Amino acid sequence: MGAEMLTKSIMPIFLFLVYSLFEVERQHTLVVTLLNWKSDMMVYHGQIRVISRFLNDFFKKTTDACKGSLKPTSCPLIAQPPKFTVVSGEKMRIGCVWETLACLTSAIMVLNSCTTAAGEVTTCSGIVPMVYRNDKISITDFGGIGDGRTLNTKAFNEAIYRIKHLRRRGGTLLYIPPGVYLTQSFNLTSRMTLYLAKGAVIKATQNTANWPLIAPLASYGRGRERPGGRYISFIHGDGLHDVIITGENGTIDGQGGVWWNMWRRRTLQFTRPNLIEFKDSRGIIISNVIFKNSPFWNIHPVYCSNVVIRHVTILAPPDSPNTDGIDPDSSSHVCIEDSYISTGDDLVARNIWWGV
Ligand SMILES: *[C@@H]1O[C@H](CO)[C@@H](O)[C@H](O)[C@H]1NC(C)=O
Ligand SMILES: *[C@@H]1O[C@H](CO)[C@@H](O)[C@H](O)[C@H]1NC(C)=O
Repeated sequence: MGAEMLTKSIMPIFLFLVYSLFEVERQHTLVVTLLNWKSDMMVYHGQIRVISRFLNDFFKKTTDACKGSLKPTSCPLIAQPPKFTVVSGEKMRIGCVWETLACLTSAIMVLNSCTTAAGEVTTCSGIVPMVYRNDKISITDFGGIGDGRTLNTKAFNEAIYRIKHLRRRGGTLLYIPPGVYLTQSFNLTSRMTLYLAKGAVIKATQNTANWPLIAPLASYGRGRERPGGRYISFIHGDGLHDVIITGENGTIDGQGGVWWNMWRRRTLQFTRPNLIEFKDSRGIIISNVIFKNSPFWNIHPVYCSNVVIRHVTILAPPDSPNTDGIDPDSSSHVCIEDSYISTGDDLVARNIWWGV
């Protein structure tokens, strides 16, 4: 919090301590009442008006900033900023001073935390800059075939290998043209954009037998559903930075039905795969993509920072087990906005470490 902010937040409290007594009139309306019970502390209406105008400006500014900030949910006052009005008279209600003061202080603290966040970034999506990449490759350059039957695992791996090792300045965009690209799970790399054209579908294979296993997360100590390892997410990112998944609302389809049935029949050996997981990563944008029928959770950022998820659509049948929409997990600066989520379980569930 900057010195200016500090002064701004302490000033009103100080002024009110000295000059006035106020009460919470309606839900979000604080009414300033003149406290002129000490003759040597003459307070004029004008001064109070200045203070209340200052406070109103202050709240308006902070709540406006708050609307575009990282933590809109931490701003309970955002919908209706408190309004200060001046009431003349000599009301004295000593009893409610401390209560009201506590309320005001916490309100200012909440708004301050929003303002601090908003001071660094003006909108939610601004926490990760959208990068435009000059170097572009298409999955078809690597033998990708979008016929819905051909397995494209090799094409994805080779395209991403090329991005990782050629290291073009500014990163590389991998274009997925319209078509249905069946594939096993694959790993992303840093400084890449996975771009799904309109009508492009990246579809997970239903062959669960060959699905790779990875170690459980350290903070869980075991798989989320079953002991031991866990199936790697369909699209996976580990230790990455500057990754964008976007396009013209193409689809990432997990074909989760086979996994849901294994869960229902209790034949799962290990924890089901998430549709997308980023682990120990930063600077991630996921936008304008449709996620469909995830085997388990849809989007799982874990131990990540600076993740923006916006304009996404997440769909799974209402009876599909544990198909959470977005599960930010032990991560910081995760921003989710303007998305449509309809799944079988939680829409957005914030997780923290468990098992430790
Ligand atoms: C994908 O990433 C995981 C986790 O880092 C790793 O265990 C696995 O070997 C990688 N797979 C490939 C094909 O590189
Ligand atoms: C994609 O979907 C999002 C969310 O529904 C929507 O806001 C956006 O306009 C769509 N974009 C395109 C290119 O269709």
